[in-house]
Amino acid sequence: MKILVTGASGLLGTKLCELATNRKHEVYSAYNKNKPLYGKPLKFNVSDKNAVIKVFQTIKPEAVVHAAALTNVDKCETEKRLAWKINVEGTENIAKLCKKHDAFLIYVSTDYVFDGEKGMYKETDELAPINYYGLTKLKGEEKVRNWTNEYCIARASVIYGTIPATGKINFALWLLDKLKRKEKVKIVTDQWNSPTLNTNLANMLIEILERKITGIYHLAGATRINRYRFAELLAETFQLNSKLITPASSIQFSWIAKRPKDSSLNITKAYQTLKNKPLKINEALKKMRMELLQTK
Ligand SMILES: NC(=O)c1ccc[n+]([C@@H]2O[C@H](COP(=O)([O-])OP(=O)(O)OC[C@H]3O[C@@H](n4cnc5c(N)ncnc54)[C@H](OP(=O)(O)O)[C@@H]3O)[C@@H](O)[C@H]2O)c1
Repeated sequence: MKILVTGASGLLGTKLCELATNRKHEVYSAYNKNKPLYGKPLKFNVSDKNAVIKVFQTIKPEAVVHAAALTNVDKCETEKRLAWKINVEGTENIAKLCKKHDAFLIYVSTDYVFDGEKGMYKETDELAPINYYGLTKLKGEEKVRNWTNEYCIARASVIYGTIPATGKINFALWLLDKLKRKEKVKIVTDQWNSPTLNTNLANMLIEILERKITGIYHLAGATRINRYRFAELLAETFQLNSKLITPASSIQFSWIAKRPKDSSLNITKAYQTLKNKPLKINEALKKMRMELLQTK
């Protein structure tokens, strides 16, 4: 299948392009600044309407995974205009063109579309973001639903994995680096979510593409966990000293954007539908360890 992946240089996009290429798909990997590692690279800004039109006319993709976004939650709060342009207008550009060219669209969304008061959110639960990043991703979902019928909205939560092309550090790699250097870290106990290994998410997304499954799906890890316990499990899996990790409360940190308290996702629908199941945290961490060993 001819697939266009936006955000191909990101944490998810890199893994997705690698695995889709391995499955013999023809992968066009779109980026903005950092050249992707896998697929046929294509540089364009998703908020540039004419550039998006040209790309679709040239490539004529059968399917698109739209993973490009401004993902820095605090930057979205301070640079609202930019966040809107990329996350809302950029998504509208992609969705319109998918409709025009009959391309199946997967939009990668987030657990931050929920307010975090309840946790274990189902696909049908009320959407009420508490920060600007969450709001722009929700508006992106609305653009997708308004412009096309052949879509899947896939909500993930705290993605982690081995190093992406951008070299942008994720929580898991940041923590492992700190512990290897024997540095102490403070990690919050009052933020809960469903950490998602990029490889697991990429495999689920590829299955959705190949089977053209439509609708909204929570594609996240199968374990609800707080950030502190996640850090402890990472330390245990990689045989590092978990005593360097001190529990903390989120009021001790001065983040610009508010974070939901419990944005964990109920993955029952994905579990029942897909052959590639959301992984439990222990399985996912073992897989990550194997991947890191293989890259050495
Ligand atoms: N990370 C998480 O914990 C998390 C959790 C839930 C959902 N999500 C969603 O999952 C998706 C992937 O996240 P990620 O963590 O893999 O992202 P990431 O590592 O931050 O990468 C972002 C990607 O978007 C591209 N991009 C940014 N602005 C662009 C623009 N104006 N035009 C074209 N491309 C642009 C970047 O390209 P360059 O590198 O070239 O700048 C990069 O490839 C996003 O939609 C995000 O909202 C992420």
